[in-house]
Amino acid sequence: MCGIVGYIGREPAAPYLIEGLTRLEYRGYDSAGVAVLNSKGKTTRVRTAGRVRALESALPARLSGTVGIGHTRWATHGPAEERNAHPHASVSGRINVVHNGIIDNAANLRSALSDAGVELSSDTDTEAVAHLIAQSTADSLEEAVLDTLAKVSGTYALAVTDEAHPDRIVVARSGSPLIIGVGDEEMFLASDVAALVRHTNRVVHLEDGELATITSSGFRTFDRSRNDTDRSPIEISVAAEDLELSGYEHYMLKEMREQPAAAQDCMRGRLDERFATARLDGLELDARELRGFDRVKILGCGSAYYVGQIGAQMIEDLARIPADAEAASEFRYRRPIIEPRTLYVAVSQSGETADTAFAVNEIRRKGGRVIGLVNAVGSTIAREVDGGIYLHAGPEIAVASTKALTNMGISFALLALHLGRLHDLSFADGQRIIRGLQRVPEQIQEILDQESEFEQIVTDLAKARSAFYIGRVRGFPVAREGAQKLKEISYIHAEAYQTSELKHGPLALIEPSMPTVAIIPQDDLTDRNVAAAEQVLARRGPLVAITHASVDLGNLPVSTIVVPQNEPELDPILLTIPTQILAYRTAIALGHDVDKPRNLAKSVTVE
Ligand code: F6R
Repeated sequence: MCGIVGYIGREPAAPYLIEGLTRLEYRGYDSAGVAVLNSKGKTTRVRTAGRVRALESALPARLSGTVGIGHTRWATHGPAEERNAHPHASVSGRINVVHNGIIDNAANLRSALSDAGVELSSDTDTEAVAHLIAQSTADSLEEAVLDTLAKVSGTYALAVTDEAHPDRIVVARSGSPLIIGVGDEEMFLASDVAALVRHTNRVVHLEDGELATITSSGFRTFDRSRNDTDRSPIEISVAAEDLELSGYEHYMLKEMREQPAAAQDCMRGRLDERFATARLDGLELDARELRGFDRVKILGCGSAYYVGQIGAQMIEDLARIPADAEAASEFRYRRPIIEPRTLYVAVSQSGETADTAFAVNEIRRKGGRVIGLVNAVGSTIAREVDGGIYLHAGPEIAVASTKALTNMGISFALLALHLGRLHDLSFADGQRIIRGLQRVPEQIQEILDQESEFEQIVTDLAKARSAFYIGRVRGFPVAREGAQKLKEISYIHAEAYQTSELKHGPLALIEPSMPTVAIIPQDDLTDRNVAAAEQVLARRGPLVAITHASVDLGNLPVSTIVVPQNEPELDPILLTIPTQILAYRTAIALGHDVDKPRNLAKSVTVE
């Protein structure tokens, strides 16, 4: 979603801003803009609807200012037009503002400004902020921003320049991420580390309620009461190459292929063979505390929610503790009962998904204990939870999540193993799961190596307008995730059902033009799954089975994708991999932009 970049130093700011905005393109946006301030205190502001490339071509040839802010916008208030693109400026153009988040009282602020005679030039909430800062009678930019924040409610990451103070950028954060990158005689600003890791790995993640003044020689952080917060930079380990395509055609393909190595990274140092458990120091919960939980509630959105369902099943299977997953986006709106003996688990690749972050906030406000399964180190959710498990999947750029989801599955298995061994999981079963986990990376590789065998299935799927994905118990969240992936990037309508529900309604839709992808693992439901497959075939519905070699499909006219078998609790991790490949290859066959599917953003930072 929206992205912020900023630069202040000795070099012209524009190239840094354009490069940073290009790095943020993967997050999804529909317009872009920059404001560059020169040493004489003159701002050049350029905005365009559409791509960063269009913005770059629209920049004047000589743009030498060394202070600048930039933005990619995902339309919320008003259409994707130049006048709504950021930066937004005050009437005289003195103040320029870029903003991520949503100002809740924007309508009131805008009508008060109109009543006072200010001519508004956009439909946005952000424009009101620029005018309010300009109207402040405070004699410093910091005080003018503080004055304005006192009138504003909502979520924001803000960066502000002022022609009257051309030596600084003032920033503020509440509910939307903002990161300062510390260079040598130059400072960077971004809402996502991807925009600044090429220039520095020393960063400060601003906290909610914090502000900062950034100059070319340093930064000062402070809170809303004007007290210094004295933050020191931390070193981040994201390498610039992790964010490159490195010869792959698409990020999604690269990230799918990275899964064996990412899975290893996720397990490194965490498998304790001696005690047949998982070592999860980041949980910050000791054995006594963990034994005190008699329920687990998992919260995530979209695919993270579906993997949460896989995780809940693992926890019930291995730890015998009641566990379930819920869409984080619904959680706080149904007045959830926060139970002291429930362990809450927030799961998120980006760590910035607003719906999940709000759920975490709601749990903490009401005294619940919440841990995070998060990929992005230092992200909002990672910092707000009581402890957790980092996924160690490395940066994920493609909008459709793959390797992070696989590592979520592995992390849930680690958590389930750890909880299980504190309850009644036997030493032998603990070892069985450890051995299973150790096989996962090479088994993922085996599936990836079969990619070319998907050809005919993909050709057929690409002709469909609609498809079913079906699975039972452990296979159902796999089906949900498979349907989600197909929808997201191939734009083919896909729906997931429990296989057992087919005959209660959806079977009516089965016909030759409606393919069904059935998850049929070797488990105690295999016979029933095969019987359901026969019912689909009897209605001349084409069927693709994602299955194990030992499953006997007789002479059924089924296209099969055979997945190596692991322990039943871990099989869903592997059964999901072919659904990624199916979606990816189908989207490519249909000529879609797999990395940037329409209407979707990588990190959904607004509700
Ligand atoms: C699907 C996908 C989304 C995300 C969801 C949560 O491929 O990527 O459904 O899983 O938006 O995002 P995170 O995990 O960043 O909280």
